[in-house]
Amino acid sequence: MPNKQEIIQGLKQRLTFSHSPYSGVQVVAAVVYEVEGKECIAYGVNVENVSYGLTVCAERSAISMAVTNGMTSITALYVMSNQSDPISPCGACRQVVTEFMQDEQAPVLCVNEALNKEWKSTLGHLLPNRFDLS
Ligand code: THU
Repeated sequence: MPNKQEIIQGLKQRLTFSHSPYSGVQVVAAVVYEVEGKECIAYGVNVENVSYGLTVCAERSAISMAVTNGMTSITALYVMSNQSDPISPCGACRQVVTEFMQDEQAPVLCVNEALNKEWKSTLGHLLPNRFDLS
């Protein structure tokens, strides 16, 4: 079962894979999920485009990867960036996370690359009164 340190290590390994030539803001996310009783992790980075509006955030990259691997429900979200302070998921990503995170108390952990700052939250805190038909 992956622990926090392993996930942070996995984030660090992938942060520079971020495709962010326009903003210089490198972001990597990890989602933790279960498939057939086995805990899994999927990672994703932000992918920018010269047509700026086509940028995909790291959180949504990670979710797309996880869905491809059979994910139906996320139990934790991690976000790391190269900024000095941890960044938290943008509004669009909060709504996309809502689609897959049933437990509003599930952890959302945001860290900086230097690993000397950490911000812990929950989906319930990040997006109260969410739009969700389920
Ligand atoms: N970004 C993410 O990847 N996740 C967020 O939640 C906020 C913003 C990316 C998008 C863009 O490539 C860069 O950060 C600067 O906005």
